Amino acid sequence: TPPELIRNFCIIAHIDHGKSTLADRMLQITGVVAERDMRAQYLDRMDIERERGITIKSQAVRMPWQTDDGPSTGSGTVYALNMIDTPGHVDFTYEVSRSLAACEGAILLVDAAQGIEAQTLANLYLALENDLHIIPVLNKIDLPAADPEKYAAELAGLIGGSPDDVLRVSGKTGMGVEALLDRIVAEIPAPKGDADAPARAMIFDSVYDSYRGVVTYVRMVDGQLSPRERVQMMSTKATHELLEIGVSSPEPTPTKGLGVGEVGYLITGVKDVRQSKVGDTITNHRKPATEALAGYTDPKPMVFSGIYPIDGSDYADLREALDKLKLSDASLQYEPETSVALGFGFRCGFLGLLHLEIITERLAREFDLDLITTAPSVTYEVTTDTGETVTVTNPSEYPDGRVAEVSEPVVKVGILLPKDYVGTVMELCQSRRGSLLGMDYLSEDRVELRYNMPLGEIVFDFFDQLKSKTQGYASLDYEPAGSQTADLVKVDILLQGDKVDAFSSIVHRDKAYAYGTMMTERLRKLIPRQQFEVPIQAAIGARIIARENIRAIRKDVLAKCYGGDITRKRKLLEKQKEGKKRMKMVGRVEVPQEAFIAALSGD
Ligand code: GTP
Repeated sequence: TPPELIRNFCIIAHIDHGKSTLADRMLQITGVVAERDMRAQYLDRMDIERERGITIKSQAVRMPWQTDDGPSTGSGTVYALNMIDTPGHVDFTYEVSRSLAACEGAILLVDAAQGIEAQTLANLYLALENDLHIIPVLNKIDLPAADPEKYAAELAGLIGGSPDDVLRVSGKTGMGVEALLDRIVAEIPAPKGDADAPARAMIFDSVYDSYRGVVTYVRMVDGQLSPRERVQMMSTKATHELLEIGVSSPEPTPTKGLGVGEVGYLITGVKDVRQSKVGDTITNHRKPATEALAGYTDPKPMVFSGIYPIDGSDYADLREALDKLKLSDASLQYEPETSVALGFGFRCGFLGLLHLEIITERLAREFDLDLITTAPSVTYEVTTDTGETVTVTNPSEYPDGRVAEVSEPVVKVGILLPKDYVGTVMELCQSRRGSLLGMDYLSEDRVELRYNMPLGEIVFDFFDQLKSKTQGYASLDYEPAGSQTADLVKVDILLQGDKVDAFSSIVHRDKAYAYGTMMTERLRKLIPRQQFEVPIQAAIGARIIARENIRAIRKDVLAKCYGGDITRKRKLLEKQKEGKKRMKMVGRVEVPQEAFIAALSGD
């Protein structure tokens, strides 16, 4: 397809504003998915995505669209529309930005009953940074609660132009979707590139498929690529043969090659996504380009957590499962670690909390593993009294007693909410050590609050608190904003004088006492009485800041049996042995597996 007839676009939206549903309707209206094959959220292939209704991996799909070029001609021109789906959640911002770099335009989709939300703004700013042409669209106009007049004004106020330029559609009924496709053709610029230059193709996604190996999604900038030729990865100079090249429409369809402005996939037989790195440039082997395209910065894990098999013999399976997930998710990081309390496991790095949740759920579901996940932690940079710097991602490795200075990661937070909740949310942010950067009214009753806040305060149930304090009306987005020094301490939890590393936490000094009392109380309720008294203590270094006691009992299971019935006695003893298997020994104290899970799950 010549570049003049290509339009590359993406849909950006806040979570649940209906991006996948609109994409489904476009697939149907352009005829690339037959009526009988249609199923909801066609592009969300992972089970977990479908169940949670969220998009994780970006996908690209090509759709033909015929316009009426004038009433007299009758026949129209057929354009190739490449739609690149983007995830809407904060954790996956880096996937959004790389999809944007492959487009010339973006549909800014807003729920006509909700209005602009935090991720609408965050994604809009990303699109503007990438110089994309923006088409503002209100979705769900079929809803009785829709208020298109109000939100069209809100959108126009945000991006300029008149409220009349804001398109109104329903992804559910299909209303307005044809008009939207026409507007994409009319307004979004055609891609530009040099067809005679050596090929330069930008990798914007790379997914592992167990049958075909790595499938790499590319946007051609210059030149062309053809099947069976040798290509070169510009960052590593590694060469591969192109086994297949094609477009997704939406099923993979091999083509005779890809030229300027086209979006498609290629397969080289590579088995590991890291060899086909997102952001890299692919060129011809025989006549390579001299300069690579500007890449992306690698996503950096922000949240760390220890993952341990409940049954120690599952350790090898857990390693294998992580290796497999890594094939399709290069942002997942892990290394082995051991815990006195939990045994052998892995310290894993995630882009954010949702990423953590998704990975642990996939481990449980796809690999059938029973796991304990320790409380999420962020990365601390510690300078010791000897001037050494240490990066701490696991609280139990905190160099206690030798700390000169600690710095913690900070994020810039944007919260959108109805004005009635401003007071409550400001209180919440202040209690989480936030400092107010600014406050704007987007409309009469909707406010944007901007804060600087330690990431460590957000990973600890901030989102849940925000939702419950605003009846679900607030939305949140955040981006990294450097780091700051803070007065932090490590609180340890001791059972009968033995440290339980899994419960150690790095907290602000002002909150150490609250953390200590909360954990000791929680554990007192969770750990059964033993043959001897068990003190549960919280400590900063050698100083005890909180204490609870579990009183001793004499556990005499045979007392009930009045001597006589020997088989009954044996049964009871066996039952007790069964019970023991699910216990972990911490020093001399028996702690049921469930107590760890409950104490770490934090409700
Ligand atoms: P993420 O992929 O998680 O970002 O969500 P999304 O933006 O793709 O939203 P999705 O398409 O999954 O839609 C969210 C919910 O809104 C679903 O329950 C849809 O059925 C519903 N929905 C989407 N479009 C419309 C619409 O036009 N009208 C109505 N009434 N409901 C819609």
